[in-house]
Amino acid sequence: MNAMQFQPLQHAAPGFDDPIGLLKACHMRIEQRCALLSRIMEHMAKHGADQQAKQACGMVMQYFDTAAPQHHCDEEEDLFPALLRHAKRSQKKKLRILIQDLEADHVEMERAWRTLRANLEDVIAGRSQALDPDIVDRFQTIHFAHIQREEAEAFSIAAECLPPEVLERIGRAMAARRNVSYPDAGPLASTQSSPGQSASPA
Ligand SMILES: [Fe+2]
Ligand SMILES: [Fe+2]
Repeated sequence: MNAMQFQPLQHAAPGFDDPIGLLKACHMRIEQRCALLSRIMEHMAKHGADQQAKQACGMVMQYFDTAAPQHHCDEEEDLFPALLRHAKRSQKKKLRILIQDLEADHVEMERAWRTLRANLEDVIAGRSQALDPDIVDRFQTIHFAHIQREEAEAFSIAAECLPPEVLERIGRAMAARRNVSYPDAGPLASTQSSPGQSASPA
């Protein structure tokens, strides 16, 4: 079994001066870790909860404990309010409903994460030899659907309506949330390829 099997692909993230690009890069990393869960389950079906599986579980746990909550804050505290302020009048009613739905998804995603996290902890601690496929499926499904809608609807309005100075304000707020300088931390963003690495901006 190749240890690289569990390593996410390395992709440079855009800088904080491209906040929508950076949010999309975060989505890609979320999707990579969701896909990793499937590979971990396949691996564990053959090999049980060996060291490699536990390490990969730890990698998923680290990402969703740190970078994913920051991503939700980027959207709820910075992007969504900016969209509501700058969207065209004709878009606002639909946008309010969209944002309500996306924020409700965030609550569900957090709930799904707490359930999955307990399962991952059990595997890492040796109390369980498997991830529950229903728990993983629920977690993956809600994340994939949310990302698809967010990009198709919210990010496309952002690309249309947000002026450069507002994008800069969002990017600066995202950098400040991670205690990094604007805009230079983005392009060489860590992809958190192993447990213990510093938190990724996305
Ligand atoms: Fe979101
Ligand atoms: Fe998102």
